[in-house]
Amino acid sequence: MIDLREQFKRQPFLMAPMAGVTDAAYRIMCRRRGAEMAYTEMVSVAGLSYKSAKTWVLVEPEPEEPQICVQLFGTKPEQFAFAVNAVQERVGDKLTLIDINMACPARKVITKGEGSALMKEPELAASLVEACVREARVPVTVKIRRGFAAGENTAAEFAARMEQAGAAAVAVHGRTANQLYTGEADWSTIDEVAARVGVPVIGSGDVFSAEDAARMLAKTAADAVFIARGTYGNPWVFGDARALALDGVPVPERGALERIEALREHLTLLHETQPFMARGRAFSSWYLKGLPHAAAWRGRVVQCTTYDEFMALLDEAEAELAVGPDADGR
Ligand SMILES: Cc1cc2nc3c(=O)[nH]c(=O)nc-3n(C[C@H](O)[C@H](O)[C@H](O)COP(=O)(O)O)c2cc1C
Repeated sequence: MIDLREQFKRQPFLMAPMAGVTDAAYRIMCRRRGAEMAYTEMVSVAGLSYKSAKTWVLVEPEPEEPQICVQLFGTKPEQFAFAVNAVQERVGDKLTLIDINMACPARKVITKGEGSALMKEPELAASLVEACVREARVPVTVKIRRGFAAGENTAAEFAARMEQAGAAAVAVHGRTANQLYTGEADWSTIDEVAARVGVPVIGSGDVFSAEDAARMLAKTAADAVFIARGTYGNPWVFGDARALALDGVPVPERGALERIEALREHLTLLHETQPFMARGRAFSSWYLKGLPHAAAWRGRVVQCTTYDEFMALLDEAEAELAVGPDADGR
């Protein structure tokens, strides 16, 4: 079984779970640039129980991926037990840990009592951890929020209960579920949780750059830091954050051509791993942000549907950059 503390010392910056984002192509882009531990998006234990092929696509790592952390969500202990066994069988030695989502604030999730709604039901939540721990050959961890309702701060007490149930680490996002992604994440929640539990704590919330990530590690009691939206258009963030935090290396600027090359690589990975390119539109916009004439390029990239259309657009963008300032007299 992995020693999470040792792993966190080597690379404290983890690729956070993000539904609709952290697919295999996305993970590989980040792994090639320094991410080590990377999470699937949250996967329904009910979906796995019904043996849905669509759900398994979310779980299974690509051959290039050395490991995977699988995040599960649901409310039924028996479905979690089934899912843990099924994931272990399917993923084998590449499975690093199983994480239980107790943080998702989406209406369609919480109305079923799943995700962050579990923070209102600590005993049910503990029974899910216990059901997983009984079956798991890997660490079982949980991801929580500061609390459920506005102004609520139950994270530390809740985390202590999850540790007692067998959780091997606790990740905490310093917003309440009610806040969704608005307002600021309160990093003091991370310290409060760390003061109450003996297991490692992963901090999350408002880590938008390598500098933010290094700051969370330095200024809070977090043993590791989740990078979520900070990966948008920036797959370098894991290597950059590590170099900054551990070796004091300043974060380099990434030029326009380098960004377009990375986008090309990412779209190619998507093309190789998925039948549909639609997801490429969102992350293409993220890579193009800040480039000359970004608004125009972004307006066009969201109309691309095929791999060839994306590539032709990038050829055009690269040609314009190569001609550069002289062409239009700037
Ligand atoms: C598009 C999107 C999808 C997300 N999906 C998940 C998810 O499936 N599981 C989870 O635990 N958190 C999920 N999160 C939350 C992130 O993992 C992270 O905790 C949150 O974004 C706070 O970090 P940030 O402010 O640095 O982005 C998601 C966040 C975003 C923006």
